[in-house]
Amino acid sequence: MTKWFVGQALLLALTATPTFATIGGGDIQLANKGGAVLFSHEVHVESVGLKCQECHPKPYVNTNQHKAVSMKAMQKGASCGACHNGAKAFSVKGDCGKCHTK
Ligand code: HEC
Ligand code: HEC
Ligand code: HEC
Repeated sequence: MTKWFVGQALLLALTATPTFATIGGGDIQLANKGGAVLFSHEVHVESVGLKCQECHPKPYVNTNQHKAVSMKAMQKGASCGACHNGAKAFSVKGDCGKCHTK
């Protein structure tokens, strides 16, 4: 009985309307000295159409295992800078306010 119930609950969670489902890891707040950055899974996965494998498990694992990367390293292609290089996406050499919103 309990097993059946858990099974049904899981099935319900998996088939629940996608409108309310979190996409990937959801919205991620990256606190740093340059001003808080909000990383949106929804934008990168839904709007841009990237696959999870393009960012996981490299360079990102999860917020608990987050390793802070400097802007200098990003401008050489680390972390966000792998794509935000002015070719694939707007560059980490400018447009500071597009990422640092506070
Ligand atoms: C453009 C890059 C990118 C893509 C694509 C991406 N992620 Fe992420 N993901 C991140 C970043 C950045 C973090 C935060 C990692 C950190 O803090 O070091 C993260 C974190 C996560 C986390 C952990 C959340 C937490 O609170 O610790 C999960 C789970 C996750 N992503 C799942 C997914 C899944 C599933 C997909 C595909 C549907 C996906 N991600 C696609 C960049 C991406
Ligand atoms: C695998 C490639 C990839 C990685 C890694 C990546 N992005 Fe993006 N990102 C894109 C693309 C492609 C776009 C859409 C094109 C553009 O806006 O120039 C985008 C768009 C954005 C936008 C604009 C969102 C909007 O609403 O218009 C922000 C902000 C952003 N990324 C932040 C980040 C941050 C912060 C990181 C690192 C934690 C990151 N991205 C890592 C590819 C990536
Ligand atoms: C694509 C998004 C993006 C853009 C554009 C961007 N940053 Fe950042 N920046 C980040 C993220 C994400 C972090 C935190 C990195 C981490 O924790 O791994 C960060 C960290 C920083 C830091 C703290 C680390 C360090 O290097 O001292 C400073 C300061 C900073 N950014 C300033 C800037 C300035 C100035 C600009 C414009 C020239 C800029 N950022 C453009 C995403 C961005």
